[in-house]
Amino acid sequence: MTQDELKKQVAEAALKYAQEGVIGVGSGSTVNFFIDALATIKGRIEGAVAASENSAARLKGHGIKVFDLNSVNDLAVYVDGADEVTENLHMIKGGGGALTREKIVAAVARKFVCICDASKLVPVLGKFPLPVEVIPMARSYVGREIVKLGGLPELRQGFTTDNGNLVLDCRGMTLLDPPKTEGGINQIAGVVTNGIFARRPADVLLLASAQGIRTIQK
Ligand code: A5P
Repeated sequence: MTQDELKKQVAEAALKYAQEGVIGVGSGSTVNFFIDALATIKGRIEGAVAASENSAARLKGHGIKVFDLNSVNDLAVYVDGADEVTENLHMIKGGGGALTREKIVAAVARKFVCICDASKLVPVLGKFPLPVEVIPMARSYVGREIVKLGGLPELRQGFTTDNGNLVLDCRGMTLLDPPKTEGGINQIAGVVTNGIFARRPADVLLLASAQGIRTIQK
């Protein structure tokens, strides 16, 4: 099975969590498959809240109504991928640069369903460079502070987030205590947020492999 086939399979498996109301939708290639699957039941749901402009455009392309998060009081479920995930349901996200909006929608949702192919499961987070969204004028300062924490920051070239900010991809950070590092990096002035999702972890992880879909939940 190809990686795309696994992504499609896990995306379709997530549909059972998204049967009614407004659905929180993340971003990335796995989520694109989820959006396509959601289109097959669009008559049943009210619409979606999107964590990126790309996802919003894809949802609208399928005729699914996209709501502003501020107009939604309750979000039962949020479905999103991850760049790395542990059995504790901590994640690194933001490979696509949508980490801040993803973290906001995840914070609102009552249930976070993470969908991945099995290659994303790791024993310890940190091999994938940690994305940190920064206000442009703070770029160098934040970079120096990340170096003090043991990371090697690199500016993502030619990239601006949907919020008009920059992303530093930080290598060399073995995340033995993800909630602590998440909070610590977010305290640096000029950081909008970082891609560790541990203070609000996933509630359910669906992992696709050639053996089928494995569900891990708290
Ligand atoms: C987007 O900013 C990310 O957080 C994605 O959720 C993550 O990069 C996973 O993307 P793929 O499904 O494309 O691997």
